[in-house]
Amino acid sequence: MSCTIWVFAQLGGAGRRPASCEGITVRSKNAMKKLAVYLSICLGLGLITQAKAEGNAEAGKARSATCAACHGMDGNSVNPQWPSLAGQDSGYIARQLMAFKSGDRENVLMSPQAMGLMDQDVEDLAAYFSSQAIAPGTADPELAPAGERLYRGGNLEANIAACAACHGPTGRGNPPASYPALAGQHADYVVAQLKAYREGSRKTDASMNQMMRNVAARMTDKEMRAVAAYIQGLRSE
Ligand code: HEC
Ligand code: HEC
Repeated sequence: MSCTIWVFAQLGGAGRRPASCEGITVRSKNAMKKLAVYLSICLGLGLITQAKAEGNAEAGKARSATCAACHGMDGNSVNPQWPSLAGQDSGYIARQLMAFKSGDRENVLMSPQAMGLMDQDVEDLAAYFSSQAIAPGTADPELAPAGERLYRGGNLEANIAACAACHGPTGRGNPPASYPALAGQHADYVVAQLKAYREGSRKTDASMNQMMRNVAARMTDKEMRAVAAYIQGLRSE
């Protein structure tokens, strides 16, 4: 909204008639050109965003009964193959639900669950699970030290970036950048996702320069298991 006002200000303020497509004179053609330039600046800066529905955690809780069977009442799943959702960034949860719904992300158990969700359900469920606290996990002491080194420092030789650079030193993620929280997530699930990125079957980072596929492509199975063990024991609070 503010950007639209700014564009009109650039075009000479509210006093001047906005450019229209009919009967373009030389001056208004110029204005159209200017409008296009300013609008593309706005788009480039990400200032024009789609109006997004606000999530309501209470409504999400009421809608979450079916999810609880796999993800737990409070978003802490007990099956290590199924991700915990508690405390996850709401924008990330909503983005993944939309990906399951559109088929961009596929899973035999999860995809059918997302199909019936309306946009408002997605926002409400995301708000609810995000508001819950993740249960602390424990790290396998055999694997965790190597996992910690990779998480914090990456692997220079293999050109693997430090996970901490994006997911944060305590695994809390980076919500404004839509980098998910990892702290406390089940190691089995984390390994499965890293493998899915590596083989390219998970492509939900398509709009983000494939950054997770680029990281996972360089990782060995051993590194995946080690870093996943460390992540399971990470505590963000
Ligand atoms: C039958 C079990 C099952 C049910 C019920 C279920 N899910 Fe899932 N969900 C899964 C599995 C399994 C995955 C992991 C899929 C994968 O490996 O890609 C998953 C993944 C997710 C993810 C992605 C998490 C991440 O960290 O990327 C979200 C978000 C999610 N589910 C939300 C929901 C919501 C909301 C509901 C209820 C409307 C729901 N799920 C119901 C099994 C289930
Ligand atoms: C350059 C930034 C960046 C780096 C470095 C990075 N990640 Fe990620 N990671 C992301 C983004 C962005 C996503 C979400 C992508 C998507 O939507 O699929 C993600 C997603 C993930 C997921 C999926 C989470 C879930 O709940 O399904 C896992 C697991 C993960 N990263 C682990 C790691 C590990 C382990 C490392 C280090 C070896 C690492 N990441 C390094 C940016 C990064």
